This record gives sequence, C-alpha cells and structure tokens, in this order.
Amino acid sequence: MMSARHFLSLMDCTPEELVSVIRRGTELKDLRDRGVLFEPLKNRVLGMIFEKSSTRTRLSFEAGMIQLGGQAIFLSPRDTQLGRGEPIGDCAIVMSRMLDAVMIRTFGHNTLTEFAANSRVPVINGLSDDLHPCQLLADMQTFLEHRGSIKGKTVAWIGDGNNMCNSYIEAAIQFDFQLRVACPEGYEPNPEFVALAGDRVTIVRDPREAVIGAHLVSTDVWTSMGQEEETAKRLELFAPYQVDRALLDLAAEDVLFMHCLPAHRGEEISLDLLDDPRSVAWDQAENRLHAQKALLEFLVKPAYQPA
Ligand code: CP
Ligand code: NVA
Repeated sequence: MMSARHFLSLMDCTPEELVSVIRRGTELKDLRDRGVLFEPLKNRVLGMIFEKSSTRTRLSFEAGMIQLGGQAIFLSPRDTQLGRGEPIGDCAIVMSRMLDAVMIRTFGHNTLTEFAANSRVPVINGLSDDLHPCQLLADMQTFLEHRGSIKGKTVAWIGDGNNMCNSYIEAAIQFDFQLRVACPEGYEPNPEFVALAGDRVTIVRDPREAVIGAHLVSTDVWTSMGQEEETAKRLELFAPYQVDRALLDLAAEDVLFMHCLPAHRGEEISLDLLDDPRSVAWDQAENRLHAQKALLEFLVKPAYQPA
C-alpha cells in the first residue's frame, strides 16, 4: 500500500525522468498558450499543507491542478488538527485516503519523510529547511528553454548555503553540471549533499571566483523563512555577496541570472538586477506552473474511468 511515488528531492527521480518532466513542462506551457484544454487530472484532488508562507508555490500548484481538470485544497496548520499536535503519521494515513496527492511546505525535512512513509498517495516537497526541488524543476526548464541542455555547463550559486543551494547540488548531480558555491564561512550547504556530489561541486569564499565563465548565476535571500531572528547578523555577513551587473560581467557572455523570488533588492541583488536583460527571473517564476503541472501529470494517476 505504501508504493506511491514521492517527490521529496530531485534524487527521487532518475536523470532521464527529470529531463522528461521539464521537457513536458515546456509542452504544457505551449498547450496553454494555444488555449488547448488538457484535463488528465479531472476529479483528482491535491491537498496542500503550508506551514510557511508562499505566493508562487501555492498559486502554481492550485492553478496547475485546476488547469489539469482537478482541484487543490489549501490547508494551514492554524486551522487543522496538525497545528494542535495530531501526529503527522496519523494525518498522512487519513489525508491520503481522501486525496490523490499531497504537497507539503514545512520546516524540518523529517516531517516530509514521515508523512510520505505513511501516505498511500504521492507526496511532493513544496520546500523544507533542507530542499526546494520544485523550484529546481522550474529553473532547469527555464535554462533549457533559453540556452538548451545544461549538461556540462558551469553554474554559480552566490550567498547562503540554504535549501535552494542544497537543491542546486542535487541538480548538479542529476543534470550533470559543475556547481561553484560562494558563501561565507559557516554558511556552507549540507556536507552530505556536497560529499555526494564529489567533484561536481566546489565551495569558494569569493563570489568573483565562482562566477568567472559561469553560464548561470543564481542567488536567494540571505535570511530564509524560520531564520528571522538572525536577520541583522546575516545582513552584515552577506554584504560582500550581493549579485550586481558588474559581477555578472565576469561570467560567460551568454550568462543567465536566476532568483527563485521573493527578492530583496539592495540585499542579495542590486536594485536594478531584475531589469538586466540577463535576468530570467520572471520566466523562471512562470515556469513553476508549467514544470509542476508536468510533475503532477507524472506522479498522479490519470482520471477515473466512467462508471
Ligand atoms: N520561490 C518560491 O517558492 O516562492 P514562494 O515562497 O512565493 O512560494
Ligand atoms: N530560501 C528561501 C526560499 C524561499 C522560496 C526560504 O526558505 O525562505
């Protein structure tokens, strides 16, 4: 009964599956642009548990399910029994008997693994303290659309070794690119992911060293959700890691800049960076919708048969 396919990390799929999901994301985008109705998930229901705030993740999953013919239900711990201490495993058993898939945005990654272990339907990681794999589907789809395959290219991650950075490391393994991480001492990505990536990942201190010749430069907020009390310290420590136009000038001529958003202009990026022609942050945000529709199509069983 626990045989459902989950998406808690990029490592839950093979490299071939990941490439086919992001290619499918582009096809689904084209179908929608052409106004073609495509509803393989009619009558299917996705439950979405959000223990942290969200704009893009909630909207893209909710709109995506509706566009695929199904529905999505938003659940907040504030008004479910989850927030009053009902064991996560019990919630998983009950919810997965009513739903066709569950997306969870949470703090500790163990909440996701525990839920998945008790769920009979696919569980999707909508961001944990450790990983943000759905964002990487959108990022990889965006790179593919603008520049073709990322295989063998060089990517620079600038700033905090956070959940996004960890997912970039997994992407380096699965999509086969070189990743250079520039971060302050003590803010490195998870050493287990770094070890798994072997020589595909290098950690440096100087952002300039990381971006030289890079085909993609990406960054994220300096203070992630749940770290708010560290904000002042982080602002000071990360100041040398702001990405601006001059830093991008050191990268490859055809470099792309990505930011998973929300952005803090004047902190991790200069005031004007999202207006630079090298930035594809808006395409990247839109691709959350298309890439996740492809993921839902891949994970969720198709429509019911007529009675
Ligand atoms: N990038 C991203 O996950 O955005 P939200 O926090 O708005 O969902
Ligand atoms: N690293 C950020 C990503 C937000 C989409 C956070 O966890 O808050």
